[in-house]
Amino acid sequence: MARLRVKGIAFDMYGTVVDVGAVAVACKGIAPDPTAFAALWRTKQLEYTFLLSLMGKYRNFWTVSDQALEFTTRRLGVEVSPEQRPRLMNAWLEPRPYPEVPAVLARLKERYPLAILSNGSPKMLRAGLAHSGLKADFRWVISADAVKLYKPAPKVYAQAPKQMNLKKADILFVSSNSFDVLGAKSFGFRVCWINRAGLPLDALGPRPDLVVASFETLRTAME
Ligand code: LAC
Repeated sequence: MARLRVKGIAFDMYGTVVDVGAVAVACKGIAPDPTAFAALWRTKQLEYTFLLSLMGKYRNFWTVSDQALEFTTRRLGVEVSPEQRPRLMNAWLEPRPYPEVPAVLARLKERYPLAILSNGSPKMLRAGLAHSGLKADFRWVISADAVKLYKPAPKVYAQAPKQMNLKKADILFVSSNSFDVLGAKSFGFRVCWINRAGLPLDALGPRPDLVVASFETLRTAME
């Protein structure tokens, strides 16, 4: 595999570095079908970010997640008690990294400065990185909150070249979320799609520079 020549790497957070499957685990015992519940919650959460950005409005990712949860409970007719609700929301503060991620980040950070570039609110990102034990790996934690817009708006991605003091073409952006892959490539980053589920490439384009099934293959491509 030809090595991608970049000077820094920025990562999406949820679904890329950390497993949003942890949210489905928190839904166990609350929703009859925890996987379907978590999937609709995630879909609505992202849909609300797109809607808000298109409407020229902003609410932080915590609020958006809470409102998406509200819709999900009503849509699926699931009763969530006042005690259960914080348990569900807190799953976003206590995510687990994918198993191979800590070791790969430890290797990559020896060669490249690393950043998180996420829709997550600063509070969510701080808590999530502390809980997953990955805080020290990232030199920058960049949130959409600073520009009050969500990915794939170019202004969100534009924070990374500024903060990392690198040209956008010298940054590799890594995401599992295909909308984020399109947005980041369209912005002008080099892009790696972590396609864990073996999904087809989005037909809309542009295409990522690299498609891998896990961080392990990303590491091989970067060394
Ligand atoms: C993020 C969402 C897209 O971390 O997962 O930005």
